[in-house]
Amino acid sequence: MKNYERYLETTAEEYDKKTIMSYFCKTPSDRKILPFISEIKGKKILDVGLGTGYYTKFLINNNVVVGVDRNPHLCKLSIKLYDGDATELAKLVKAEKFDIVFSTWMTEYLDEE
Ligand SMILES: C[S@@+](CC[C@H](N)C(=O)[O-])C[C@H]1O[C@@H](n2cnc3c(N)ncnc32)[C@H](O)[C@@H]1O
Repeated sequence: MKNYERYLETTAEEYDKKTIMSYFCKTPSDRKILPFISEIKGKKILDVGLGTGYYTKFLINNNVVVGVDRNPHLCKLSIKLYDGDATELAKLVKAEKFDIVFSTWMTEYLDEE
């Protein structure tokens, strides 16, 4: 089983429920990530493994954002979304160009290779 398959049956609402881990991990990291994100303007961004788009929703205020996820059903935002694997980005986006590739809380799902 691939790591991302754990979300196949998960709804966006279930995914976004706050857990104890949210307070220990996400809240402290948000203090750094959210000010950083708010500085990004006028870019075309590829958000890899965007999930429900927790950070994407801040990025889309000032940028064009395209998402990639193996569980695209989680994202309800009106953005272009690729259903595909982060390890095959070139095959997915082909000739489409981006200024920034953004990814949060996703790389731990990839195997070592
Ligand atoms: C913990 S969530 C993080 C979501 C969001 N980036 C955030 O910071 O809240 C990880 C997301 O990465 C996706 N994902 C994991 N491995 C992936 C892969 N190999 N290719 C594409 N998406 C993947 C999962 O489906 C899930 O939506």
